[in-house]
Amino acid sequence: MGRVEGKIAMVTGGADGIGAATVRRLAAEGATVVVGDVNEPAAQALAASVDGIALHHDAGDEAAWNEAVAAVEARFGRLDVLVNNAGGGLPDGSIEQRSLEDYHRILRLNLDSVFLGCKRAVELMARAGGGAIVNLSSVHGIRAAAHEAAYSAAKGGVRLLTKSVALHCARAGLNIRVNSVHPGYIRTGRMRRWVASSPDGAALMAALVGQHPIGFLGEPEDVANAVLFLASDESRFMTGAELVIDGGYTL
Ligand SMILES: NC(=O)c1ccc[n+]([C@@H]2O[C@H](COP(=O)([O-])OP(=O)(O)OC[C@H]3O[C@@H](n4cnc5c(N)ncnc54)[C@H](O)[C@@H]3O)[C@@H](O)[C@H]2O)c1
Repeated sequence: MGRVEGKIAMVTGGADGIGAATVRRLAAEGATVVVGDVNEPAAQALAASVDGIALHHDAGDEAAWNEAVAAVEARFGRLDVLVNNAGGGLPDGSIEQRSLEDYHRILRLNLDSVFLGCKRAVELMARAGGGAIVNLSSVHGIRAAAHEAAYSAAKGGVRLLTKSVALHCARAGLNIRVNSVHPGYIRTGRMRRWVASSPDGAALMAALVGQHPIGFLGEPEDVANAVLFLASDESRFMTGAELVIDGGYTL
């Protein structure tokens, strides 16, 4: 019996990185997983490998959410788990270097997406009797990054948006739990490419590791394990919590 046996789960931005590790982990523990991503070929390949379903889905687009939730409800009649994972930052840049368009782009991807996902999922989960939502924030939702003002604002927003929705769902007796996870720097493909493209990749990697007292960076599976726990009934008494997975970065 898997830890999320028989549950219907959707992961946004599920085709790569932390999202893909989460898709694999949930599927390995018995969930049927809907892989949403703007990269449809990658989502399809991953979904096929875990007997899941791929959806072309832009997590910052309201119409895309309407279509996705309607498709999930038509096929399964319910959604037990939503992982609002899609997100990311821009290359380093101070607030003077950023345009309002950059700021809006980052808020759309990291915060609007979570608002829309929570809104649609709560409606569907409430109709179907309950569920669990896990939102990807970051250590930069707790401690600011000087080079990423918009990303810090968005991830801080995810932290309190999560608590607000959790409180509403609990008070309304909807049987829906909502929690956030806050990873430190994780060795995804994107992070490896970023380090490799730096003029001194070894120095950059050493500096990043140096910010994590545990002495190494996380792997996507480290975050996926935490998401699995929050998605499963093992965390039934947790809602509005922030689970920090950062090797001591925020201490
Ligand atoms: N990697 C880290 O070090 C780290 C640390 C803290 C928090 N996070 C957060 O974890 C989440 C996943 O990050 P990652 O590093 O694994 O990302 P990633 O860049 O490795 O993968 C992101 C996935 O999202 C997809 N995507 C991009 N825009 C999308 C959109 N509008 N709608 C749907 N899908 C979209 C991409 O195609 C890709 O498959 C993000 O919210 C990120 O902010 C990452």
